[in-house]
Amino acid sequence: MTTYAWLKAGHVIFVIFWMAGLFMLPRLFVYHQEAEEGSPEAAKWVVREQRLLKIILLPSIVVVWVLGLLLAQTVGAWSQGWFHAKLLLVLLLSGYHGWMASYAKKLARGEPTLTGKQLRLLNEVPGIAAALIVILVIVRPF
Ligand code: HEM
Repeated sequence: MTTYAWLKAGHVIFVIFWMAGLFMLPRLFVYHQEAEEGSPEAAKWVVREQRLLKIILLPSIVVVWVLGLLLAQTVGAWSQGWFHAKLLLVLLLSGYHGWMASYAKKLARGEPTLTGKQLRLLNEVPGIAAALIVILVIVRPF
């Protein structure tokens, strides 16, 4: 019981860090794209994006996955419907994370492909995914 409670506490703490980072990143991209290309200001945004990706986002996604899989093993979640749906959403969210990380590289090369409006819209993705995941885990509709 104690191990389970600590695993779950750690899982939720790192979910919060991961989500916070995912909410921040596209906002940084919007400010970055508003700066003049090749300017010292644009270079500062590159550093901020890389720090967020390396210091917050990468460690958080790793810990969330490790503790989540340990929890799944502990509670025997593999046979439950809500867990299959959650896994699918979490895989999609992890893909979104990877896509945003690759967009940071593109921006650092001065090759933006998304508009500010598109980035603001994309910013809704982690919020919607987090809401659906929390409903699946807590309400367990199936
Ligand atoms: C990355 C892969 C993930 C895996 C494998 C995973 C797996 C699990 C498992 C097995 C549990 C324990 C359920 C139980 O107590 O019976 C759990 C709890 C929880 N997970 Fe995840 N999870 C992952 C990611 C996430 C994400 C991205 C979120 C939110 C955005 C999230 C939110 C939660 C919450 C809120 C709980 C606690 C629910 C409660 O109070 O019982 N998880 N997770």
